[in-house]
Amino acid sequence: MLKFMTAGESHGPALTAIVEGLPAGISVGSAAIDHDLRRRQVGYGRGGRMEIERDRVEISAGVRHGVTLGSPVALVVRNRDWENWREEMAVEEVEAEWETQRGVRVPRPGHADLAGGAKYRHGDLRNVLERASARETAARVAVGAVCRCLLKHLDIQVVGMVQRIGEVVWDSTGEWRPETIDSAEASDVRCPDPRTATSMRAAIDRAREDGDTLGGVFEIRACGVVPGVGSHVSSDRRLDGRLAGALMSIQAIKGVEIGLGFGAASRLGSRVHDPITVSGGQWPFGRTTNNAGGIEGGMSNGETICVRAAMKPIPTLTRPLPSVCLDGLSPVDAHAERSDVCAVPAAAVVGEAVVCFELARALLEMFGDAHVDDILRAMAAYRDDVARIWARDGG
Ligand SMILES: Cc1cc2nc3c(=O)[nH]c(=O)nc-3n(C[C@H](O)[C@H](O)[C@H](O)COP(=O)(O)O)c2cc1C
Repeated sequence: MLKFMTAGESHGPALTAIVEGLPAGISVGSAAIDHDLRRRQVGYGRGGRMEIERDRVEISAGVRHGVTLGSPVALVVRNRDWENWREEMAVEEVEAEWETQRGVRVPRPGHADLAGGAKYRHGDLRNVLERASARETAARVAVGAVCRCLLKHLDIQVVGMVQRIGEVVWDSTGEWRPETIDSAEASDVRCPDPRTATSMRAAIDRAREDGDTLGGVFEIRACGVVPGVGSHVSSDRRLDGRLAGALMSIQAIKGVEIGLGFGAASRLGSRVHDPITVSGGQWPFGRTTNNAGGIEGGMSNGETICVRAAMKPIPTLTRPLPSVCLDGLSPVDAHAERSDVCAVPAAAVVGEAVVCFELARALLEMFGDAHVDDILRAMAAYRDDVARIWARDGG
């Protein structure tokens, strides 16, 4: 079974990820991973940290001569900022003055500080925030980029765009043509419509001037997924459940919709479910709409998979909210630290990564996981089988 684990603190020496269960024969290069790492780092509204970091991956296991071996793949992304935190984040014991140098005693509303401090008995909340930080998502993007290399062999494309920042909304419902994708890629708010993008940037500027932050919504689409990926037979194999869980596991994501999502709740069934038509071809079915977002019964249905995730505003505010100091429980303003004002464009790239991982996992379960050629053969045989069954039953 495909699985991964990440380790690393935000200002520690490095982030590390190990991916196990990848088949042999996938073309993987550090350039492809670095490309996604770069995409995660850019974006209007990011904080000063992104000026320091230029993430690059070191592949230290599982790949030889640009091809996966079938053994665990190990990925390391070094933190350049570590140079400025060597003593504060040292692994070895340090002198007492360094222990408290950048200690945090005032929890931020909306962050992991208070609950994490209580659970792990940390008086210094830095011990919580260093791991709770979304810096961890650099490792997850690296994992997703490797999975994207597998999906490329299978002709599956995963793309993310920003649909909302604060009150500013782009109507994402139309077809995403190659030009739409290119425009979003060129946009620093990951929105293909220039006018909406300008309004999004203005909203971010206003929030920054007010010492405030903004959230939003991103949408991820996956094209080329064969029908039947996932399963209706057991709850933990449902593709919708897995995608929702993966997206909700991203820091600050507070809601996930598949297809029409919450919008389906207020409509009649006749205005929600996607009529089935005959379209010809190996998979001879089409749909007049895609309100299901490409998933029915916990399985892909052959249409484009569409998921959206809502991100809350960044919890660290330069004009902080009231909090309580752990020393004497006196009321004070929350801890403020260099921070993003809005990170929805970056979160969309993280969203792509976790969707790539979940699709890869479900596809490997369905088609085998030893060598990529086995998977391609199994997929071709499956397509033939399905076509034959419908032809026979139809006749
Ligand atoms: C790409 C990305 C960047 C983020 N940047 C920041 C940041 O600079 N400052 C901050 O306080 N929170 C940031 N967050 C959100 C926090 O990591 C998150 O709110 C926190 O870990 C608490 O988790 P929760 O919001 O899921 O409850 C970011 C999240 C993502 C996905």
